[in-house]
Amino acid sequence: MFIKKLKLLNFRSYQNLELEFGSKLIFFIGENGSGKTNILESINQFATLKSFRDNPEEELINWKENFFYIKLDFVKENFDNKIEIGYSKEDSSKRKVKLNQNQVKKKQEIVGELKTVIFSPNDLSILDGGPAERRRFIDTFISIQSKNYYSQISEYNKILKQRNFLLKKKNIDQKEFSPWNKLLKDRAEIVFEFRKDYILRINEIFKKDLFKLSNGKDQFEIIYKPDFQSYSEYEEILKSKLAKDIQLGYTSVGIHRDQIFIGTNGKDITEFGSQGQKRSTVISLKTSQFHIIKSESNLSPILLIDDVIRELDVKRRELFIELIKEAGQTFFTTTDLEGIKDYLGSLENEKEIFEVKDFSVKKLSSILVI
Ligand SMILES: Nc1ncnc2c1ncn2[C@@H]1O[C@H](COP(=O)(O)OP(=O)(O)OP(=O)(O)O)[C@@H](O)[C@H]1O
Ligand SMILES: [Mg+2]
Repeated sequence: MFIKKLKLLNFRSYQNLELEFGSKLIFFIGENGSGKTNILESINQFATLKSFRDNPEEELINWKENFFYIKLDFVKENFDNKIEIGYSKEDSSKRKVKLNQNQVKKKQEIVGELKTVIFSPNDLSILDGGPAERRRFIDTFISIQSKNYYSQISEYNKILKQRNFLLKKKNIDQKEFSPWNKLLKDRAEIVFEFRKDYILRINEIFKKDLFKLSNGKDQFEIIYKPDFQSYSEYEEILKSKLAKDIQLGYTSVGIHRDQIFIGTNGKDITEFGSQGQKRSTVISLKTSQFHIIKSESNLSPILLIDDVIRELDVKRRELFIELIKEAGQTFFTTTDLEGIKDYLGSLENEKEIFEVKDFSVKKLSSILVI
């Protein structure tokens, strides 16, 4: 995959920005707070339809405006594609998405059309942010790969919300819950199977990459710890927990309570991991995501590398270079280019540099000596 053009109207700090790309490696350099991450965030929107910083859509609109519009031209399997996303505070339908000029009716039609893998300082929250953050990583990952998963998990969450709403109401006939229980169970079973399968596959690659990064020292695993070992009886369980759920005012069991263990010998990484171990762990999670996307879809994903390059030691750099070589295109943000040449190696001549300053972006000469 290769991105040719990006247009941002009223997205975050950009009121009107148009960029064209002609190289495999794109660098955005600029001071802190200049708007580098905003660009990667906009690109990632096209893949997942949401902010990787987990901000609500309204916050993506430029503060002076009441809508944003973003457009991406990219090549996929030798065909040109175009995605447009519009979001308005005022419009009742709020978000409008087009794929190659056609209005997209359901989000699942678009999620995963562009394949991105993002490396960002926020990634540490996959480890430190509690079970919900781990599920979010897995859910976003599988959603990029499977439209079915995306629609099942989205529907599950909607139904769960409605059931929880009902649980909070007083004096409701218990029979009213039966249809909701059935709807939840059907989706939970599918989500469970997907999570089981993907986490097993992630684990295989994750273990190998982490082994390499840590010179064989860290042998951690990622293991799915579902709320139940099988969701075939889930409807009956929901029924048996109903009285408790009514008391609590929410649904106390289900895939929204699944855990994902990351650690070794039953000890979670949050209990013992050093900063370096945690960093290697999230990098290995993301590299496994990259490799699974690549082998499963036969497409070279777009890599978005936010601010994480310079701090890397030799081992991590080696792993990144391998990744960059396999990617369709890589977008980097950094405050300066010092030290970067060392690890680009033979890729050095395939780069374009953009300077980000005062919320505007200027292309610098590609042959700029660094
Ligand atoms: N909705 C918005 N409207 C206008 N400006 C915004 C909006 N959201 C964020 N900003 C501005 O964008 C800037 C942050 O941009 P960004 O996170 O891309 O910076 P950065 O270059 O990545 O910085 P760093 O190097 O510190 O990571 C801030 O100055 C912030 O005020
Ligand atoms: Mg940033």
